[in-house]
Amino acid sequence: MHRRSTVGIMEQINEFLFRYKGLVFANGMTTPEYIDSLQSFQIRDSDTFLVTYPKSGTIWAQNIITLICESEGNQDEEFPNNLEKMPWLEFPEGHTDYSSRRSPRLFASHLLPRLMPPGLKDKKAKIVYVMRNPKDNAVSYFHFSHALSKLENPTSFEDFLQQYLAGDVAGSSWFDHIRDWYTHQDEYNILFLTYEDMIMDLRSAVEKISRFLGRDLSEAALSRVVEKTTFRNMRKDPKANYEFLPEDLLKKGQFMRKGMFGDWKNTFTVAQSEMFDQIYQERMKSLPLKFTWE
Ligand code: PPS
Repeated sequence: MHRRSTVGIMEQINEFLFRYKGLVFANGMTTPEYIDSLQSFQIRDSDTFLVTYPKSGTIWAQNIITLICESEGNQDEEFPNNLEKMPWLEFPEGHTDYSSRRSPRLFASHLLPRLMPPGLKDKKAKIVYVMRNPKDNAVSYFHFSHALSKLENPTSFEDFLQQYLAGDVAGSSWFDHIRDWYTHQDEYNILFLTYEDMIMDLRSAVEKISRFLGRDLSEAALSRVVEKTTFRNMRKDPKANYEFLPEDLLKKGQFMRKGMFGDWKNTFTVAQSEMFDQIYQERMKSLPLKFTWE
């Protein structure tokens, strides 16, 4: 049974998930105390944050950003993989003291604006926000829920879809995540990208990100980043594909699953799709966002 959210109070949703300050987290991944401690996290002007709703292309953009930064020789080989180069802000496992890390620091996050370190509102540090159409997002999340041991195995896609629409999944509701970040964009130095645009024109996406990060790369350096971040090549790249995670946490081969858009059609029934469209129209009607669905 799921209970209603109570802002400020940790609420156990089920054996796998808890809600804190309006956001849902997987048990064992973080704590309310740690989330609250981020309110005094000292932001540097040179910091870059990658923010996403889960399953929107995070590790893809993470690879692009770390490669862009490496292209200028600012990050060397001191970190064995992308997770260490760009750690998750809200997950304390691994490094929690980032004050001794040299600049530019890179962080990934699924948090909502109100839970992010307040120093980001100085608008100097940068945020790259990647979003993905929610039908493909839901299908990707459904498969991931079978692969990550910290998440409940959904009994069927229908059951998962109901939880996803109710926001009873880690990261809460896709709709709230997109709305919160989109409507608070003026408070931040933020670049919005979509997963689908990245698929359709990876080079332009890499160019946009590098310009936003203030690193105009040479044509050759751009080509190198594009080449290394195609689905085919990332899948084989042990630093980027997350196969370095222990198998009792994540089944092998699951982070890099299909890497496409429009594939939701192979999972959604017509009735599920129509129901989803109705909810989408209702919840997104005041936002001028357009997604590519197929
Ligand atoms: S997570 O768990 O939130 O960090 O997952 P996230 O990385 O956001 O999303 C995983 C999906 O991104 C796809 N992916 C890619 N697609 C295209 N090109 C590249 N290079 C790429 N890298 C990762 C990955 O395959 C997941 O999508 P699905 O639909 O499950 O394949």
